[in-house]
Amino acid sequence: MMQTKMRSNNEYSILGLGCMNLPLDNIRETEQIIHYAYEQGITYFDTADVYQRGQNETIVGSIVRELMQQDSNVTIGTKGGNRFHDVESFQWDPNPEYLRFALEQSLNRLKLDKIPLYLIHGGTIEDDLVATIETVKQFKKDGLIDSYGLSSIRPNVIKEYVNHSELATVMMQYNPIDNRPESIFNLLDKHDIPVLVRGPIMKGLFTKNYEQVLIDKFSDGFESVSSNELREQLRQIELDYNDLTTYAYKYIIDHANVLSIVVGASSLNQLKSNIESYQNLNELKDVHNNKNVFKDISYINHNI
Ligand SMILES: NC(=O)c1ccc[n+]([C@@H]2O[C@H](COP(=O)([O-])OP(=O)(O)OC[C@H]3O[C@@H](n4cnc5c(N)ncnc54)[C@H](OP(=O)(O)O)[C@@H]3O)[C@@H](O)[C@H]2O)c1
Repeated sequence: MMQTKMRSNNEYSILGLGCMNLPLDNIRETEQIIHYAYEQGITYFDTADVYQRGQNETIVGSIVRELMQQDSNVTIGTKGGNRFHDVESFQWDPNPEYLRFALEQSLNRLKLDKIPLYLIHGGTIEDDLVATIETVKQFKKDGLIDSYGLSSIRPNVIKEYVNHSELATVMMQYNPIDNRPESIFNLLDKHDIPVLVRGPIMKGLFTKNYEQVLIDKFSDGFESVSSNELREQLRQIELDYNDLTTYAYKYIIDHANVLSIVVGASSLNQLKSNIESYQNLNELKDVHNNKNVFKDISYINHNI
């Protein structure tokens, strides 16, 4: 599988595994999924402290850690900044004491001395961004993380981080339908910051099951695009390109400076299908010509 490099020279597999929706209640299948991903060349595994309130880090960490011990290319990223203990909902808390507490908790759950990639999991322009940035820089100086990034789709917040820190990456949902991040690619490219793509198959829309996914998850459409418009767009792409997942990967690679495309799966079969589509990438024709199938969507709030 193709490898990419970040500034620190750490290598990432072009496909990463998003661990948020793994079937954690079935440890055997979770193990099979992570091992299968690794056997197929995936070396980046994405988790967060909030996923299943720490359980995801604990379980995924125990499986990925073993792989990390055998293979120095295997890497894991986690995220912090949302308080979640003892409450039902999350509460954004970027204050330095809380961030340090969250990082220590993640290190404990992952049973690591150092986290390869630590992402600030959100943020608003009203935050004391200088304090947050100084805090993650200090984590790095203290040897507790290898690199830090930001998970945000707010252009104004991204811009502040880009201008005042050495972000290794920015994680954003990006795919042919949710093409909003394209408006900030110039800024990221100028600073040589690659994108950690989440939601590449848009929760299953870019798969052969899109009709069902439309009904289950997109009955209200997405942003300014109605559910019927989405259906027409996907039908058109299926007609032209056959494999919607391969199309989505190709579109992403052609438009973004990608660190890793973090694709999620909740079963082994889903992962197998998602990887097979990656293996068909070379057979796909250029997707630039098809840009007009999808609407250009813009961020409405939090603009620069
Ligand atoms: N703010 C953040 O930092 C943030 C937010 C969200 C996600 N993430 C990360 O990014 C990763 C990927 O994001 P995502 O899960 O939203 O995006 P995704 O990869 O676009 O969607 C994954 C979901 O799509 C469905 N799916 C996957 N493969 C399929 C297939 N072959 N056929 C049909 N359906 C399929 C599954 O839904 P079902 O389980 O319903 O079948 C799966 O859970 C997450 O795992 C997480 O690590 C980060």
